[in-house]
Amino acid sequence: MSAPNHRLSIAPMMDYTDRHCRYLLRLLAPHALLYTEMVTTGAILHGDRRHLLEFNPEEHPVALQLGGSDPQELAEAARIGASFGYDEINLNVGCPSDRVKQGRFGACLMAEPQRVADCVAAMRAAVATPVTVKSRIGIDDMDSYPAFHNFVKTVASAGCETFIVHARKAWLQGLSPAENRSIPPLRYDVVYQLKRDFPELVISINGGITTPEQALEHLHHVDGVMVGRMAIHDAYTVARLEKALFPDPSPMPSRYEIAERYAEYAQRVHSSGQARVISLTRHLLSLFQGQPGARRWRQALSTESSRPDASPALIFDALNTIRRATLPAA
Ligand SMILES: Cc1cc2nc3c(=O)[nH]c(=O)nc-3n(C[C@H](O)[C@H](O)[C@H](O)COP(=O)(O)O)c2cc1C
Repeated sequence: MSAPNHRLSIAPMMDYTDRHCRYLLRLLAPHALLYTEMVTTGAILHGDRRHLLEFNPEEHPVALQLGGSDPQELAEAARIGASFGYDEINLNVGCPSDRVKQGRFGACLMAEPQRVADCVAAMRAAVATPVTVKSRIGIDDMDSYPAFHNFVKTVASAGCETFIVHARKAWLQGLSPAENRSIPPLRYDVVYQLKRDFPELVISINGGITTPEQALEHLHHVDGVMVGRMAIHDAYTVARLEKALFPDPSPMPSRYEIAERYAEYAQRVHSSGQARVISLTRHLLSLFQGQPGARRWRQALSTESSRPDASPALIFDALNTIRRATLPAA
């Protein structure tokens, strides 16, 4: 199976990139590769698989991110994931949270390149779906370029052809996950060097990318860009990134059009009893970020969504609120 296009991807983000978020992201960026939140092997092997893994056909191409460190469990989780139709299976070697460390997976696996290679080999043997790895550039004092180079070489030798690299190291002691996304400095040069050393690999860069200009600049050096927090804090930037990275003559959909199409989706999902209104509307909160009326939009969505009789039709009412806010004063 050929690997999905990595030119633009939206990062895996726990508590955010669920199927509803990904539906919205797809409306904003028809060509972006979307990632699930990290799902642990334990959850897949012992939990409610349909709840964890089902997704909307519109979300393709979509990658399932797995958290784990046991090759056989990862192989089984990959097989189950592939049976749900994911386009890629990704292994998390970048998350530094305590919970993940206790399970001895995530970023701490960067200290065990051979184990990661064994995991990749087992997953590849189990599925035809492409298997990729998302990592940091190092952890703790193991942050030299030769160590990172050796990590990638070892994992690539097991057949991993695509690496998504969050261009900063992680401190496993003393920093919270949020601090580990901002305090260690970004080292884009390390990721560029990696691409020069492994031109045959697909290398996607991640960390701190907020504008189409920055994304285009990175694409002179690497094959793809992955965007995380910007997609949450200012969702419409995702549409701008799509336009810059996949130019075509058609006009960009407006924020209103995106919200209306998402509202139709939300009504379908809500009426089939699959989700609470708040779980659907929360992904829209940042759609009008920086626009007149953005605060009223957020207020209308949050206040109305928590009412017991709330329905996704409130999205249309909130759109009217913002339309009124942008009318010139009479
Ligand atoms: C709320 C949140 C949850 C995250 N969850 C995951 C995760 O499940 N798996 C993962 O590999 N990275 C996770 N990350 C890290 C992002 O994928 C990304 O690597 C990081 O935010 C840096 O990219 P950015 O600067 O574009 O946000 C998370 C980040 C945030 C903000």
